[in-house]
Amino acid sequence: MNLLVTGGAGFIGSNFVHTTLRDHPECRVTVLDALTYAGSRASLAAAGDRITFVEGRIEDVALVDRLVGGNDVVVHFAAESHNDNSINNPSPFVTTNVVGTFTLLEAVRKHGRRLHHVSTDEVFGDLELDDPERFRETTPYNPSSPYSATKAGSDLLVKAWIRTFGIKATISNCSNNYGPYQHIEKFIPRQITNVLSGRKPRLYGEGKNVRDWIHVDDHNAAVWAILERGQPGGYYMIGADGEQNNKAVIALILELMGKPADWYDHVNDRPGHDLRYAIDATKIRQELGWRPRYTTFREGLAATVAWYRDNAAWWQPIKAAVEAKYAKHGQ
Ligand code: NAD
Ligand code: DAU
Repeated sequence: MNLLVTGGAGFIGSNFVHTTLRDHPECRVTVLDALTYAGSRASLAAAGDRITFVEGRIEDVALVDRLVGGNDVVVHFAAESHNDNSINNPSPFVTTNVVGTFTLLEAVRKHGRRLHHVSTDEVFGDLELDDPERFRETTPYNPSSPYSATKAGSDLLVKAWIRTFGIKATISNCSNNYGPYQHIEKFIPRQITNVLSGRKPRLYGEGKNVRDWIHVDDHNAAVWAILERGQPGGYYMIGADGEQNNKAVIALILELMGKPADWYDHVNDRPGHDLRYAIDATKIRQELGWRPRYTTFREGLAATVAWYRDNAAWWQPIKAAVEAKYAKHGQ
């Protein structure tokens, strides 16, 4: 199988490439990535010359047409992915997430290729802390931030292309990932690298917001289950029953890193901050037999702390700039 992986130099995409080379050596992998601030060739260094890397944008009609035409399957990770950035400057989110996905869809339609669209649970909005409901495949869309609105827009385009044009596409909506190669603007790697740099972790507001954490390898195993066994036109929720509030996550990071439990600062909250995400992954478990391998958050988090400790050369050069950007917003 010839696989085109968009966003393969980002967090989840680069882990997907490494998983694919290890577990599916029969695949030929081409990565299309614009190498924005979030993408890094260093994240693909271990792949060496076993992949073809193309630097370019998913809104580039001619480039996308050529690459989609030359591959069997497109796995679409490329996106602007950070909520805080979308609040400060929404424009690239509309371009990449909406126009970029549209461009891919048109090429997929023209060439009759298979597409898997990687999306997020944030398209469903948020839940009350005590709501017994969790997000399912049938939950109505209700996004809150510019990021999640553009991801919702991209999902709806894929759904329309499935229904109207009959393209062979699947969609997955996953909860919060953590693991190696995650950009240090994101919550967990920001706090780990803060501690490694002698800085206190930074908690937005009171830290009561809940996220449903999943290790990136478990997410990518679910994407592979969909590629191999998913129903064409099917939608799948991906989550590993990993609900934690932000305060508890910081407490665990501090414990794993040998710091006192109160060694963190409260900083400005995120405007419109979603309260809680929670995934009901019954469908993918029952229909595709997928199960997460990381069954305790502590185990996955400890491995992630070790990765950032061992790979300081990957994140240290950008740490000061990331923190300077947050400081402008009192975060
Ligand atoms: P990321 O920001 O780490 O990586 C995104 C990659 O896309 C980068 O390599 C970047 O250079 C590339 N890119 C951005 N704009 C591009 C463009 N116009 N053309 C080509 N490449 C471009 O993101 P991530 O956290 O790895 O997320 C990957 C996908 O998974 C996204 O679609 C995101 O919405 C989705 N998702 C993420 C999470 C999470 O917790 N991180 C959870 C669920 C779903
Ligand atoms: O739910 C899936 C989504 O998870 C993905 O679609 C997004 O691409 C991904 O970035 C993530 O979005 P969040 O906004 O939930 O993740 P983030 O890491 O930015 O923040 C996680 C929580 O931690 C959130 O409640 C805000 C809080 N936070 C974040 C940072 C950066 C802090 O308390 N302190 C921080 O320094």
